[in-house]
Amino acid sequence: MKITVVGAGAVGASCAEYIAIKDFASEVVLLDIKEGYAEGKAMDLMQTASLNSFDTKITGVTNDYSKTAGSDIAVITSGIPRKPGMTREELIGINAGIVKTVSSSLIEHSPNVILIVVSNPMDTMTYLVHKTTDLPKNRIIGMGGALDSARFKYRLAEAMEAPISDIDGMVIGGHSDKGMVPLTSHATRNSIKVSEFLSDERLEKVAADTKVGGATLTGLLGTSAWYAPGAAVSGLVQAIACDQKKMFPCSTYLEGEYGLNDICIGVPVILGKNGIERIVDVPLSDAEKAKMQESAAGVTKTNGLLEL
Ligand code: NAI
Repeated sequence: MKITVVGAGAVGASCAEYIAIKDFASEVVLLDIKEGYAEGKAMDLMQTASLNSFDTKITGVTNDYSKTAGSDIAVITSGIPRKPGMTREELIGINAGIVKTVSSSLIEHSPNVILIVVSNPMDTMTYLVHKTTDLPKNRIIGMGGALDSARFKYRLAEAMEAPISDIDGMVIGGHSDKGMVPLTSHATRNSIKVSEFLSDERLEKVAADTKVGGATLTGLLGTSAWYAPGAAVSGLVQAIACDQKKMFPCSTYLEGEYGLNDICIGVPVILGKNGIERIVDVPLSDAEKAKMQESAAGVTKTNGLLEL
């Protein structure tokens, strides 16, 4: 199993590290446009192999896509991250050009690749890849919901002072502060609805804190987060590489599902060896349906900024 990670910055390197630590891939190629940067990150990571007991071979390359040839899965993290006070949508100008070039270079050398798009604004970047490449929609996956759901579970566990492993919950919709739809009605603690433990006001606060999860960290760190994003991407990569048939909310191209058309937005999907194996239809309350429509309108507006 060969995996390429484009962008050896904060998220790309963290993602490569988690993939290596989980030790399911034979090879990870880190590629960056900055001379020597991916080589340095790869060497540093390889020097953790004996400490962290993995055999995955990590190599770094400067913009040489021939070294990515035959990749089964490729992750696109190249682009600029937001600074405090910025929205993800403000990154579109620079990142759209990068994502377009990177995706076509990856496909040229790995025609059977499954692409995972991470660069922001992620839903719009996923849509861009859908519109500008010939890849079937099951092989274009946007990562946002897996991260947002992890942040939701963190906030739920915090509110209930419960172990995170007892919590289940999911965030669908667009990967933006306003667009996320935390499914509070489906969230559980040991299979019991969280509404049994938390008041409506507290649940609303949990949902609100979840939605600004990325912005909160950007304010604290001065740039966007990397551990949880890297771990979330590695979870998607592992589900595909190991054919786990595991459910994650991911951005995918919709043709009528959830009442939406011609848009990439976060919905629950099953990930396995074919990428997105199917979209899961989770029943939504009327309020959640309305939030999903509102979220989709926001993503469509951002998509309108693309020069397709
Ligand atoms: P970073 O600045 O640490 O790393 C980005 C890397 O991309 C840099 O090393 C840069 O040299 C490289 N790069 C730029 N243009 C390139 C090109 N044409 N080809 C190859 N490499 C290129 O940024 P960070 O924090 O890793 O974030 C990366 C992206 O991921 C940002 O757009 C950020 O907003 C997004 N992100 C998305 C998340 C999600 O849930 N979807 C979560 C966190 C970040």
